Amino acid sequence: MNAQQLLQEISDYCRQTGLAESTFGRRAVNDGKLANRLRNGGRITTDTLDRIRAFMTENRADMSARPALIPRAHELRPPTSPMPMPPGLPTAAPRITLPASSAEPDPQRNFRFFDNRQKYLLFVNTCSEKWVVASRVSLELANIHPRPPAVRVFDAGVGDGSVLTRVMRSMHDRFPTMPFYVVGKEISLEDIRLTLQKMADRFVEHPATALVLTNLAYADAPWLHVKSMSAASSLVWHELPLTGTSAHRFESQITDLEPFLAENWKAGVSPKTGNPVYERPVVLVIYREDHKFLLDPILPRPGGTQASYDLVIASQPYRARASLDFKAKRVVAPLARALGPGGRLIAIHSHGNDPGQEIIQKVWPGDNPFLHDRHQIMKAVKQELGPSGRELNFNAYADNRSLFRYDMHTLPSEVSESIGTSTLFAAWNAAIYVSQVEDDRLEVVQGAQAYLDATREVLRRHGGLWFWDESYVISRRRE
Ligand SMILES: C[S@@+](CC[C@H](N)C(=O)[O-])C[C@H]1O[C@@H](n2cnc3c(N)ncnc32)[C@H](O)[C@@H]1O
Repeated sequence: MNAQQLLQEISDYCRQTGLAESTFGRRAVNDGKLANRLRNGGRITTDTLDRIRAFMTENRADMSARPALIPRAHELRPPTSPMPMPPGLPTAAPRITLPASSAEPDPQRNFRFFDNRQKYLLFVNTCSEKWVVASRVSLELANIHPRPPAVRVFDAGVGDGSVLTRVMRSMHDRFPTMPFYVVGKEISLEDIRLTLQKMADRFVEHPATALVLTNLAYADAPWLHVKSMSAASSLVWHELPLTGTSAHRFESQITDLEPFLAENWKAGVSPKTGNPVYERPVVLVIYREDHKFLLDPILPRPGGTQASYDLVIASQPYRARASLDFKAKRVVAPLARALGPGGRLIAIHSHGNDPGQEIIQKVWPGDNPFLHDRHQIMKAVKQELGPSGRELNFNAYADNRSLFRYDMHTLPSEVSESIGTSTLFAAWNAAIYVSQVEDDRLEVVQGAQAYLDATREVLRRHGGLWFWDESYVISRRRE
């Protein structure tokens, strides 16, 4: 057996049982960095392999007797923690593994969407970011020039769908009678579920909507076309023509997709890169059957379709600590290529220089995850696109237009002398989420009180908590 196969086995096992790779390593062979060592070319002895195997066999039996995904108590809270953490809060859920000590940490590996589920959900529900992002994106609707037969929008990572559904509402307000072709890319099943839950009403208010959700990669998703021959042969293409006319009826048909989603929208971890990858490529097309005639020219068909988007939404599409090359080459450049004439790509990422970062700096002095600003990213994208970039405009804007602020929701009386525990935890969660602090580092500081003191002090001093996001626009010239 080679390291790749073993890694795949470990990764499958961890997914099935809900264990973090580092916890797996620690429990199996007392080495939390096992998976990463393997990933980075480390070797193991046959004795270690036997222990790993034995652990999996023993615990599969054990797992069947105890529900998966329920971490053991000591994994939820460090034993030395002076303050009890509410259940589900992002304490020591040590999903993150550090690379072998000799190698540079690879930030893409250290912060995966499924590791940060609770943090993401707590963040989107306690901070106004996704509303504010949706408002900023919606401003772009005034600058696009859709052509028949549809307004074309691509969301490069729908997350929980709160940005996309809000933008779709604004689209209806501005273009009430134009058909919509909306494509959302998302690899996480949980996020697809959350997004679909929000969609039923959209089909009532705007019946001429073709909604496409896909788990394809950035370079393929805008075209709904899988370049790799082997992956293309396993493509799952599913259409849901909604019957009836009420949100209730639509919702129940969308909910009925559950078994299909559970079966097909699966993701694993690439043993090669450590990044999330789909098991099978999936394209899901939803529209109202009673509007099929009108939508016929825009409904995509297997085998690929044109991109030519009027609006591309790239809200937090890359990890802050990812390399400039990754951001430009793998994420933004393919999205810029997908723009139609007059189309606009708006990208948004965290900026720092705010009370949130102050909390982080108090706990980890000198830490700064915000490596690249919009100017650097656009320059790298321009370089990557070469001559094909000549038809594009790169709009960095002045800070007063590019930067925008969002806040943590607090009640007026909350940030006073005694700040409630839930406010404190929500603030800490937002700060570490936005700064994308790896779980290994959290594990260390959350064992003591200092991180809560730091959070409390910053909240008091500023009378609340807020963050800055940075935005930029790449637009294609009109023909
Ligand atoms: C979950 S998604 C973003 C999905 C969707 N576009 C959105 O804005 O919610 C992709 C990545 O964005 C990160 N992310 C989302 N919001 C963020 C924020 N305000 N600051 C930093 N990272 C964020 C997540 O951790 C994840 O790695």
